[in-house]
Amino acid sequence: MHCAPTPTLTPFLASSVSLIGTGQTSFGEHWDKGLRTLMEEAVHAALEDAPCTELDVDFVVVANMLAERVSAQAHLGAIASSLLPHRPPAIRVEAACASGSVAVHTALSLLESNRAQTVLVLGVEKMTDVRNEEIAAALMGAADSEKESPSGLTFPGIFGLIARRYMEEYGLTREDLSLVSARHHANAASNPFAQFQSPIPARVISESTLVADPLRLLDCSPVSDGAAACLLSTKFEGPVRIAASQVCTDTLSITERPTITSFAATREAAQRAFAEAQISPIDIAHVELHDCFSIAALLSVEDLGFAAPGEGIRRYRERSTAPTFNASGGLKACGHPVGATGVKQINDVAKQLKASGSRWGLAHNFGGAGATCGIHILEYAS
Ligand code: COA
Repeated sequence: MHCAPTPTLTPFLASSVSLIGTGQTSFGEHWDKGLRTLMEEAVHAALEDAPCTELDVDFVVVANMLAERVSAQAHLGAIASSLLPHRPPAIRVEAACASGSVAVHTALSLLESNRAQTVLVLGVEKMTDVRNEEIAAALMGAADSEKESPSGLTFPGIFGLIARRYMEEYGLTREDLSLVSARHHANAASNPFAQFQSPIPARVISESTLVADPLRLLDCSPVSDGAAACLLSTKFEGPVRIAASQVCTDTLSITERPTITSFAATREAAQRAFAEAQISPIDIAHVELHDCFSIAALLSVEDLGFAAPGEGIRRYRERSTAPTFNASGGLKACGHPVGATGVKQINDVAKQLKASGSRWGLAHNFGGAGATCGIHILEYAS
């Protein structure tokens, strides 16, 4: 694990940063909309939600992974900046599926250093304009191109191996896995932005097409288009503040890790985030976690400290236990336009806190097989 020992976690500059506006497009197949249109819609929605005007934005950070490959488009910072009349400075951030949370982390650094007072963070991805085989190959850019891709592995394949190993270690069953996706699909029924809004019974999930044994189609997050945006500010205040922001990394290849049934970058980022916010898992009311595959949700529940190793599934069997996991529907049912996901998760946690009046929520976003992990803890002051 490659996270250096925590050097100077001053308590804590990020605490003065408010999340003052959130917005997103629906996630799904947007064949009629390009990157620019998706970005425009999300930015417009976030500005509508915020107490500031577009001219208050000092800096833009864009998260995206695949634009060159799918849309023959690089230089997204310039596109994002041109969505605002005064063209503020803009940068693009890429960390595979963790691009969104890393973009928020980057924005916080700009705010903490006083280089900006209001930053627009924008995550965007177009994935459905090319064939699924091409997307599967492009997504393998998030894995190790020397150690994993040459073997023919895809991400469903990598997480299939992880699921198989986890089942052997902890006795998890195929039916258990289906409970996870069934819960997330049920949650998405009340999310108008979700790609799939119909509940799917566990039995149907267990019988869906086999993709990478033991994972079936309905264990996998789908291929999606979409954008999400948020506004972070030290100048304008809102009821939701960023109480912690941590990014940790691990080896890119799963072949170099002592275990594949737990992700060290998630464990480390969670530990640091809880220390930074000065709370513990028991304080958290809402979690949006990175369920790119059903098995990933179970690893995440455990690595974040909400269950002991091998016991994550209990959180899905015991319906009433707090916190909520993926009340939005998660990646599984909302969709996973990879660059947008991390931003959308933070937006969803903020919405959930406002709706329930609870104080603390957590957004967990990883890239590849957990090689980069970004965790944000949000605090709501009612
Ligand atoms: N969940 C729910 N439904 C899905 C789905 C998913 N993951 N993927 C596809 N569907 C639906 C489609 O909407 C379609 O429904 P329809 O027939 O009613 O229109 C049907 O299943 C078949 O879709 P299709 O696109 O032909 O499926 P596919 O076999 O080409 O792709 C997967 C399915 C699982 C392989 C693809 O979604 C995938 O690769 N997911 C993983 C993406 C990924 O790796 N992300 C990065 C994570 S680290």
